[in-house]
Amino acid sequence: MDIAPSAVEACCAGLYGHPLVELIAGQSLHPGGLATTRRLLGEARLPPGAHLLDAGCGLGTSARLAALEFGLTVDACDVSAAALRRATTLAANAGAAIRFTEASVLRLPYADGTFDSVVAECVLSTTSKRRALDEVRRVTASGGTLLVSDVTATDAIMAPEPLASVLCLSQAWRPGELEELVVSAGYTVARAWDETTSISALIDRVEARITLLAALARDAGSDQLGDFGPGLARLGDPGRVAAVFDEARRLVRDGRVGYSAVVARAD
Ligand SMILES: C[S@@+](CC[C@H](N)C(=O)[O-])C[C@H]1O[C@@H](n2cnc3c(N)ncnc32)[C@H](O)[C@@H]1O
Repeated sequence: MDIAPSAVEACCAGLYGHPLVELIAGQSLHPGGLATTRRLLGEARLPPGAHLLDAGCGLGTSARLAALEFGLTVDACDVSAAALRRATTLAANAGAAIRFTEASVLRLPYADGTFDSVVAECVLSTTSKRRALDEVRRVTASGGTLLVSDVTATDAIMAPEPLASVLCLSQAWRPGELEELVVSAGYTVARAWDETTSISALIDRVEARITLLAALARDAGSDQLGDFGPGLARLGDPGRVAAVFDEARRLVRDGRVGYSAVVARAD
């Protein structure tokens, strides 16, 4: 099912800027965290000063890494104004000069061929993938690179929309689809690898934090937890939380959900 991008964008815009998401998932909002990002950027072999776009940057964590560790000139965009506000603060605190713009990957406000490289981590599967890849290719110079990591699934995973899209499930890439669409958007795949083990680590970490925070909310009373209180109070009972994470682990163990990385060169 190809759902309206605007519904997902609205949901993402609200979700990813929420402080509770940062508390639970951390600042790098994809499986593998900065280790996966570091590998993608390393594979791209970009010279210092090369111009990178972090498309769907969330809290700008990969953008900061690219600027501070790889010496790149970095633009970053996202549909979430709240996430961008937080990303701007985090970048300023870290001394990273990044230009943040509120924009959808479906309508990038940059001229053709602006970037030497575009990184899109856990983003394309939240939106219309073919349109997003065409738009990303448009703003990438010939010979530039595309760096993608994203969720894969062997079949449609049932979860209510637009939540399933925001969690990169309902529109997850089918086996082989990522490479296929990347090629049809005008790239040649240089490297592709499996990152599925990093999903399991993320599931464990997120479950541990949710369980801890839910216990805190129960014991302290949500009114004692300031701005986090109302969100934490809604986390639900521990049995339900555990069942959701067990199901997620089962999907990964059965090979129905995975995580893939691709590095491709623009033709
Ligand atoms: C799973 S998070 C990943 C964030 C970041 N790439 C990272 O790995 O830390 C997905 C992000 O994509 C953003 N997003 C969703 N749809 C988008 C779109 N159409 N254009 C730009 N950003 C989008 C969300 O607001 C969210 O910040």
